[in-house]
Amino acid sequence: MAILRQPFNTHLNLGNGVLVPEGVKVVRHLSDMKDMYQDQDAVQHLLKDGDPLIYVVYNVEVPEEAGELQHCTSIVYPGRVGNEFFMTKGHFHSRAGTAEIYLTLRGRGILLMQAQDGRTATLDMFPGSVSYILPYWAHRSINVGPEPLVFFAVYPGDAGHNYGVIEEKGFAKMVLAQDDAPVVVDNPRYACRRT
Ligand SMILES: [Fe+2]
Repeated sequence: MAILRQPFNTHLNLGNGVLVPEGVKVVRHLSDMKDMYQDQDAVQHLLKDGDPLIYVVYNVEVPEEAGELQHCTSIVYPGRVGNEFFMTKGHFHSRAGTAEIYLTLRGRGILLMQAQDGRTATLDMFPGSVSYILPYWAHRSINVGPEPLVFFAVYPGDAGHNYGVIEEKGFAKMVLAQDDAPVVVDNPRYACRRT
């Protein structure tokens, strides 16, 4: 018998992005994604002094089914690993032909995206920016400012997450601090891994 469901509210704190109830909370420290950063000496240096928190995701609990809408907030903390800004792991969707919308609430970021053929694109993230991530494009959020980057996301219920391709190959581009300003540069390790 189908469970009777009711429409529901979740409270989004527009200041810090926390959802109440918190739902399923995903917490990523540097050790969870240490191979994704370019400067491995900087990784080891940071890990010696602790294990910095890189980002947290609060997921509203929704069935992973077609017709539903997953939604969550992500908080990417400010910081760098060497010259590389703190960022999310990045992923394709398991059902790759599904889009996503990011509404940025706080902070300053760069949304790095990559198509399956290797083409890349970036969008600025700032309070009020509504970014449309195309179907079949991987996406990663990078905090390039001094305060937490907070954004609200909505995507199809059955989209799922495929982290494997990015874990293995990375993105073709990376975002580095140059004189404190973010610059998008080629990722030399991506070229190596492609061969
Ligand atoms: Fe996504």
